[in-house]
Amino acid sequence: MCNSPECNKKFYITTPIYYPSDKLHIGHTYCTVATDAMARYKRMTGHDVIFLTGTDEHGQKIEDKAKAAGVTPQQFVDNIVEGERGVKDLWKLMNVSNDRFIRTTDDYHVEAIQKIFKKMYENGDIYKGSYKGKYCKPCESFWTESQLVDGKCPDCGRDVEDAEEEAYFFRLSKYADRVQDLLENTDFLEPRSRVNEMVNNFIKPGLEDLCVSRTSFTWGVPVDFDPGHVVYVWVDALFNYTTALGFMNDKYDDYKDYWPADVHFVGKEIVRFHSIIWPAMLMSMDMPLPKKVFGHGWLLLDGGKMSKSKGNVVDPYVLAEKFGVDALRFFLLRTFPFGSDGNFSNEALIGTINVDLANDLGNLLSRTVSMVEKYFGGTLPSVQSEDAEKDSEMVSLIANLRAAYEEQMEKYAFQNALAEIFAVISRANKYIDENTPWALAKDMEANGARLAKVMYNLLEVLRVSAILLTPFMPSTVSEILRQIGACECCSTWEAAGKYGALKADATVVRGDNLFPRIDEAKMLAELEAEREAAMKANAPIEKPEGCAIIGFEDFMKVELRTAQVIACEPVKKAKKLLCLQLDLGYEKRQVVSGIAQFYKPEELIGKKLIMVANLAPAKLCGVESNGMILASGEETVRVVFLDPETPLGERVR
Ligand code: ME8
Ligand code: MG
Repeated sequence: MCNSPECNKKFYITTPIYYPSDKLHIGHTYCTVATDAMARYKRMTGHDVIFLTGTDEHGQKIEDKAKAAGVTPQQFVDNIVEGERGVKDLWKLMNVSNDRFIRTTDDYHVEAIQKIFKKMYENGDIYKGSYKGKYCKPCESFWTESQLVDGKCPDCGRDVEDAEEEAYFFRLSKYADRVQDLLENTDFLEPRSRVNEMVNNFIKPGLEDLCVSRTSFTWGVPVDFDPGHVVYVWVDALFNYTTALGFMNDKYDDYKDYWPADVHFVGKEIVRFHSIIWPAMLMSMDMPLPKKVFGHGWLLLDGGKMSKSKGNVVDPYVLAEKFGVDALRFFLLRTFPFGSDGNFSNEALIGTINVDLANDLGNLLSRTVSMVEKYFGGTLPSVQSEDAEKDSEMVSLIANLRAAYEEQMEKYAFQNALAEIFAVISRANKYIDENTPWALAKDMEANGARLAKVMYNLLEVLRVSAILLTPFMPSTVSEILRQIGACECCSTWEAAGKYGALKADATVVRGDNLFPRIDEAKMLAELEAEREAAMKANAPIEKPEGCAIIGFEDFMKVELRTAQVIACEPVKKAKKLLCLQLDLGYEKRQVVSGIAQFYKPEELIGKKLIMVANLAPAKLCGVESNGMILASGEETVRVVFLDPETPLGERVR
């Protein structure tokens, strides 16, 4: 392959397209943020990038969920994709710079899938048969009895169901050898460890032909030459990477320039689809194969995969609001090696923010800027003096940082790339201590030029680090560059590769503290309280224990009547009680009610409500009560108010 920069300028990168079956969590955000960082990095290094993401909207799972929600599948997915706090909103919040967003329900995609399916049928790679086996609905995956683990889906461990229907099959078996060769003898699939898994678990035991149509539900792309069949959702989904460029449709015209994709980022559980089924179908279509599939690990919560039942701890909206979008993006890629699983925890998140961002980067910035202000009034003198022995290491670290970072980024090793930057940042903090600017400043005449050089070197560390952090923290970085007085031309990728690009007499501008230290105990308590509240709000409503059945006559013994509150005051020495004067129209009543924690007297005066008018009188804290008002709830009590037009004294039944 040609490696000249001109030939390699185009870069096409994708995320998986997400199932809009539930709200997305921080695990989904992880993959998209990683893809965004890579897309931004490639743009920064001069590539012409298309970054695609989207949603995978067909299939049985979505159809079932829509039915349960009482809406059409289209309404259901529209809400999750376009609605408030939906998929598109989330990517906007996370500052994701996708160039394109595909929905598999888009017309151009649906039509293209029909053509693709027909082409594979016509070339003999799709044939009709009948399917009998197992199906995992959450994964939209077919399995044979022997592939199950303890009778459950080998991918997600959930129950599978019997599936038996007339179906079309794709001749996957025909491509087994070519796919095995691709996996074993090229760098198509990374990390390398995933290759063995694919070959040993799926190819060596014998690749069976793949069922690629369904008849037992309708929410999918119809097979146009055989009504009743819909295209298997994974066939529909995988080709999104090409239809979004205009393959077999007129919506876009980028296929010839951007296909094959440079890389598909995908989670490890869908590596099988991307590294076996996808290349086989492309071979059948006689299309070029993507250059790489990178299978990243999972973010785990308490050692297990994330799920909604664990509350809002993994809600990216909650985390972004508490910690900031850039800090969250940074944390995801700094903390976990991209190819392996990682354990998500609030402690780890707070730890990373406090150590790397508040302590190391934030401190370096605020110390440097305030020293330049204090010792030089904000502008460095251009007369500076180097101390060869003390500066050489710092200078070469700055000069070589970009190359070290680039080497890691090219391998998609985000964590290592960031480690390179933070090694230099912490070295710079030590450089301050070694050079004791405060001591130099005591005699400016003798040491001013030296002090200026020390400051300049610190600004250079900040400048180069900030540029290289752009893919990770796009908003924060421009603020760092602003504070250190970096001009546009010394903020480029080219300038990141050079020591000395910042002009000698740079002027700093003090700004906000970018990463205030987080009080860990306080933040954890706050998150926990919110998690509990969210759990409670989302808890299923339990069916009450059955009360005894009563006859109509018994019910009619309770005389409920409409009344209006005409006066109300607290009951002395009883925190929970209010004393209400009620007007029934035909007479007035005094009623004592335990609602003082929920209503102020003035909120009740004038309101109409329902009272039990024939309750025997009682004394509450020494105050007489003649009846009772209707209210619901135990922990939080809500009075049942009536329409203001309701006449007084009416019987309620
Ligand atoms: O699989 N940690 O969609 P999806 C890391 N529609 N990544 C995670 C994760 C976690 N805890 N949870 C989910 C699908 N993901 C298909 C893709 S592509 C042609 C079709 C990742 O919404 C997961 O690994 O179930 C996958 O890569 C992505 O989110 C989408 O998952
Ligand atoms: Mg999934």
